[in-house]
Order: sequence, then C-alpha cells, then structure tokens
Amino acid sequence: MMQNLFSLTGKNALVTGASSGIGRHFAGVLASAGAQVIAGARRTDKLEELVKEIETTGGSAVAVELDVTDQASIDSMFERTSEATGLIDIVVNCAGIVEIGEFTELDDSAWDKVFSVNLDGLRKVSQEVTRQLIVAKRPGVIINVASVAGMNAAPGWTVYATSKAAVIHLTKNMAIELWRHNIRVNALCPGYFPTEMNEEFFASEQGQNYLKRLPPRRTGNLDELTGPLLLLASDASSYITGIALPVDGGHSIRLV
Ligand SMILES: NC(=O)c1ccc[n+]([C@@H]2O[C@H](COP(=O)([O-])OP(=O)(O)OC[C@H]3O[C@@H](n4cnc5c(N)ncnc54)[C@H](OP(=O)(O)O)[C@@H]3O)[C@@H](O)[C@H]2O)c1
Repeated sequence: MMQNLFSLTGKNALVTGASSGIGRHFAGVLASAGAQVIAGARRTDKLEELVKEIETTGGSAVAVELDVTDQASIDSMFERTSEATGLIDIVVNCAGIVEIGEFTELDDSAWDKVFSVNLDGLRKVSQEVTRQLIVAKRPGVIINVASVAGMNAAPGWTVYATSKAAVIHLTKNMAIELWRHNIRVNALCPGYFPTEMNEEFFASEQGQNYLKRLPPRRTGNLDELTGPLLLLASDASSYITGIALPVDGGHSIRLV
C-alpha cells in the first residue's frame, strides 16, 4: 500500500534542466517510481548519458533537446514528446540559472537572462502542458523548483531571489486556477545542494565558513530531496496544492 501511494506507474513526467544537478537526480527518482521520463535541457550529450543510466536500472526515459528561453525549442520538445510518449502528466520545472550581483550594479542583460529561464521558461512550459491536460480532461501535477532564496532576502542575490519569489507566487496563482481542472501545482524550495551551480564555492574555505553560519551547518544531499519530490509528484499529496515546501535543514526559519 505504501509503495502504491508514491507510485508513478503509467505517468509521463517531464523534467526540465535534467542534464545536471537536481534535475538529473529528479529524473532518476521519477523513473525509479515508475514514470516514463522526458529529460529536457540544452546539453543533449548529458541527457543521453542519463537516459542510458536510467535504462540500465530498469527505468524508461527519453532525451529531448530543450531551451526554455526559446519558444521554437519548447514547441519542438512538445511535438517530439507527443510522438514518443503522449501527454505529459507531471512536470518538474527545474531549469534554472543564477547571477550574483548588487542591486545597484544589476544590468538589464543579467536581469532578463535570469528571468527568461527561471520564470518565463517555467511559465511557458507549464502553460502548454496545462492547456493540453485541460483539453484532454486529464489530471496533472506541476512542481516548480524555487529556492529558499525566494522566501527571504540576501545581499547580492537580488535578481535570482526575486525570480524565485516570483516562481513561488506564480505557483500559488496557478494552483488556485488549476485545482478545478484536477491539476495540482506546488513549489519545492531547496536550501543549498552542491551542484554545478555552486559546488566550487562550497568546496572553498570561504564556502565552508559561510556554511558554518547557517542553521543546517552543511549542504543537503540530493537524496534528501527524493522524498519531498515523490510526495508532491504522487497521489500521496492529492489534497496539497499551492504550497512552497522548503527542504533546507531549517535554513529558512531562523532569523539570526
Ligand atoms: N543547488 C542549489 O543549492 C539550489 C538551491 C535552490 C534552488 N536550486 C534550483 O534548482 C534548479 C537546478 O539547479 P542545480 O543546482 O541543479 O544547478 P545546475 O546543475 O547548474 O542545473 C541547472 C540546469 O538547468 C538547465 N538549464 C539552464 N538554462 C536552461 C535553458 N535555457 N533551457 C533548458 N535548461 C536550462 C541546465 O541544463 P543545460 O545547461 O544543459 O541546458 C541544467 O540542467 C534551479 O532552478 C536552481 O535555481 C538549486
């Protein structure tokens, strides 16, 4: 019974940003829970490696080139997916980039770049999926990967944190509108997890000292995101929508 609660057998699950880090991990988790995974990102060589890895462990996945900032690339991903697997039931919007810089020094290019991936890309992919699900009268699940940076402010993080705060708010608005269509929308807010995005920093002395000042005193392991992802992706959370779930060892709750 417990296994059935989290089972994704028969579901098609798209993961954007599946070529590395958290998205790569999520693709493997969803496949191991029984979903047919559509792994999307720009680096198709990395996606092909991931697909092989999933297949060797008995799972099922396809690699699809995807640049979430390019409408033509999004359209072609949906065309390929509809031929290869049919309708997408679950979307994990994980594609994301970071830019660090003081508010006064932020230029349009950094602002537009971060928002085009972190917010607009996520919105466009989600809109197409929901339109298709609504027409087909099929239930669905959307999981937006936000961040603890979207819940609190931090110096130098203005553009990234603001984009992630917008993801959390978009999640709530989508959830309110889509519940009646049987589509649930939630956000996951990871604390720090070492990935291509930040591993150099956390391996440095400066990064280690920084970590000591944070409530969890360590980075998370990708495995610590597995349960929260499966909860939100499966029927185990059938009455949960519109939440922003921190997975952060308490990072987001302590004032000082
Ligand atoms: N690591 C953390 O501590 C942490 C904490 C909180 C939230 N997050 C969030 O978690 C998500 C994954 O980040 P990560 O830490 O796993 O970093 P990562 O290893 O750098 O992964 C980022 C992923 O986004 C994809 N991506 C970037 N631009 C894209 C585009 N235009 N179109 C499609 N895919 C694109 C990259 O693939 P390609 O380059 O192949 O396209 C890559 O797969 C991000 O949304 C990030 O903000 C991370």
